Amino acid sequence: MSGVTDLESYLASFDGDPGYLDWASFGPLSPAVRAEAQADAELLGSGRRTSIALVDDHIREARELVAELIGSDAAQVALQPSTTYGLMQAIYGLAGGLMLSRAEFPSLTVTATRASEAFGTLHPQWVDPANGFMTPDAVRSALSDDTRAVAVSLVDFRTGYRADLTALREIIGDRLLIVDAIQGFGMVDADYLAADVVCGNGFKWLRAGRGTGFAWFGERALERIAPVLSGFQGVEGELPVDAVPAPAASAQAFSVAGSDSLAAARLATALRDIVDVGAATIESVLLERAGHIMFVADRYEIPVLTPREPERRAGIVALAPAPQDVAPLAASLANHGVTVTVRGGHIRVAPHVGTGADTLRLFGDALGAFSSSRVW
Ligand SMILES: Cc1ncc(COP(=O)(O)O)c(C=O)c1O
Repeated sequence: MSGVTDLESYLASFDGDPGYLDWASFGPLSPAVRAEAQADAELLGSGRRTSIALVDDHIREARELVAELIGSDAAQVALQPSTTYGLMQAIYGLAGGLMLSRAEFPSLTVTATRASEAFGTLHPQWVDPANGFMTPDAVRSALSDDTRAVAVSLVDFRTGYRADLTALREIIGDRLLIVDAIQGFGMVDADYLAADVVCGNGFKWLRAGRGTGFAWFGERALERIAPVLSGFQGVEGELPVDAVPAPAASAQAFSVAGSDSLAAARLATALRDIVDVGAATIESVLLERAGHIMFVADRYEIPVLTPREPERRAGIVALAPAPQDVAPLAASLANHGVTVTVRGGHIRVAPHVGTGADTLRLFGDALGAFSSSRVW
């Protein structure tokens, strides 16, 4: 039920109120996702087996579309309730040293800590890279013989730094590379095949709502990660009753119970739009929008934390005003009807491809009003 076929129709599908610059937090659902969810909810109310099967088929479709964006096979994709569930499937099955930044989103830091406490076979190797950027140099200098895996965000939720997966692969050799891709999946043309595990969720940039998580496990990951959290859904074939078979050899092993077909329908619809438009096209427009946010911030002399190089950023622009400026700047944005995330002294601004001139103007006006009242 996707109405999007090209960039033009994709841009036109952004129909929310002006002023929304918080896509890194939550993505208002696309019209196609809303329509699909309603239609599928009706089908699930019919009591017809064929209708139920029709909705269930979105599970296959969603896995295929995730695989297509990664450049891989659907057998290597397992749908998940969220990014964190996918990361837990990967991390609980690791042994040895897991390198990760202390500044990562808690999906990684909490999971690594809990997994290590539970089994004692995994130990986190914490790094504190400058600005929290997991650069190739930061990873290289922290590697040890004991490092078995490196976990990193594709796009850092706080700073907007985009990891260089290709360079990380070169540095870590055949160790595992586990990627939390929620802040960039579908939005940038990343080298996912340089990774071993890629997890995400469609409720931000994909505009698919919550419950639309997924995890991809490459060959090396399938060989080396034990499916510790595997449930009855994680086996080949029919429902395993009266005997307990081994976990599946595919990514299916990394699933627990039945998938939510309504969530899969939303995810498939959202991903179809991305596949039709193309991640590379989306990336070029997104970088332009984020670049505009940086341009306005520069004009009003508000420091920007996010790297300037296009290949090291995506849709997140982190502003780092002087401490005394944070509250007045946040107030000016709110007064102008601009939605952003204010956290830890930073203001995170996250436009999307469909962010229009009206929203960018509100953002400029808010910074202008703040600037004219600023006490130097
Ligand atoms: C980098 C990052 N990872 C994980 C999450 C949480 O993802 P989920 O709710 O899909 O587990 C978020 C945001 O909520 C995030 O920004």
